[in-house]
Amino acid sequence: MRIDILTILPKLLESPLNDSIMKRAQEKGHVEIHIHNIRDYSTHRQKSVDDYQYGGGAGMVMLCQPIADCIDKLQAERKYDEIIYMTPDGEILEQTTCNTLSTSQNLLILCGHYKGVDQRIRDIYVTKEVSIGSYVLSGGELGAAVLVDSIVRLIPGVLNDETSALTDSFQDDLLAPPVYTRPDDFKGHKVPEILLSGDSKKIDEWRNEQAIKRTAERRPDLNE
Ligand code: 6GU
Repeated sequence: MRIDILTILPKLLESPLNDSIMKRAQEKGHVEIHIHNIRDYSTHRQKSVDDYQYGGGAGMVMLCQPIADCIDKLQAERKYDEIIYMTPDGEILEQTTCNTLSTSQNLLILCGHYKGVDQRIRDIYVTKEVSIGSYVLSGGELGAAVLVDSIVRLIPGVLNDETSALTDSFQDDLLAPPVYTRPDDFKGHKVPEILLSGDSKKIDEWRNEQAIKRTAERRPDLNE
C-alpha cells in the first residue's frame, strides 16, 4: 500500500507514523507513507496557504491552488482508491471502514486546518470525508495519524501472531476481555483462577463471557 498525506504541519505526523508498528510496517515494505507539505506547492509570494473567507466571518480558509497542484501531480503518477478529507463533519470512523480501506493500493489523505479547505477542493477531488469522533481538533493531522494507524495494522504481515488484529475489540462487535500478566497476586488482587488452570477450552469460554459482559456494560450500542 502507498499512502500520501497532504498537510501544512508535517511535523505533527512524523512521530506517530515513524515509531513502533508503523515504523516496522514501512521497514518491512508493507506500506510507503509520503508526507507532502502543502506550503511547498504555493505559488503565492509569501507561500501562503490560506486566505479570508468570502462573505466574511472569523477564520481563514485553505486555498485551492496549493492543494489542487499537489493532488494533480500525485494523480498524474497513480490512481487513488480514495481521496480522503479529514474533517469533523465527515463520517465517523468505524472498524468496518478501516477494514475496507486496508485493502487499498493507494490512498491520499488531506488534512484541513483553520475553517477547513475551500469547498471546491471537496467537490472536485475528495471521494470520502472522515471524522474520528464528535469533538473538534485543531487540525486533521491527529485524525490522519489515527486513520493511518488503524488501517496499516490490518495489512497482512504487519502484526505478528501475538498482536493479531483478529482478537481486537470491535472486530466481532465485542470489546476485548480483561487481560493479566505476572504476578498472580498484586496488592491482594488475584488473577482469575481459571486463567491459571491450563484448561484452554474453559479459558476461551471465560474470555468470551467476559467480552460479552464488558460489551453489554460499556457499549450496548455495539449489539444493536
Ligand atoms: Cl478528522 N479533524 C478535525 N479538525 N477535527 C476532528 C476530526 C478531524 N475528527 C474529529 N474532530
